[in-house]
Amino acid sequence: KSILLINGPNLNLLGTREPHIYGSTTLSDVEADARTIAAKHGASFDAFQSNHEGAIVDRIQAARGKVDGIVINPGAYTHTSVAIRDALLGVGIPFIELHVSNVHAREPWRHHSYFSDKAAGIIVGLGVYGYKVAIEHVAVNFKELEK
Ligand code: DQA
Repeated sequence: KSILLINGPNLNLLGTREPHIYGSTTLSDVEADARTIAAKHGASFDAFQSNHEGAIVDRIQAARGKVDGIVINPGAYTHTSVAIRDALLGVGIPFIELHVSNVHAREPWRHHSYFSDKAAGIIVGLGVYGYKVAIEHVAVNFKELEK
């Protein structure tokens, strides 16, 4: 099985960015833990972070036919990006939408997501622990593509 973790804009600052909201764990720690969990289940793993919408679209398109499941924290693009939504639907790869913070307890404009109605599942407000849950879920429960 093959799992792709995608983090959108500003998540490269995880650990130092508004730590009262996002915690003090860095993105490289998150990615290392995710890799360990994937490996424990015999899954291959790749992690991608970008601050650029088009780069995220390109990475999703490149995953077509190769990746069985995506865990994505689209960051602020959650609330704006039809393009990333369309990319996920276009490649037909099932995905988990993840937010470190509880977006529903924050500003009203964070309550709407362009992803939630198409996500296989949503993890919100568990802090960076959510990434471990999401990766484990994909590793254990997502179906493998015919390749
Ligand atoms: C976020 C929530 C978004 O509203 C915000 O723009 C982010 C991070 C989260 O992980 O809680 O960048 O996706």
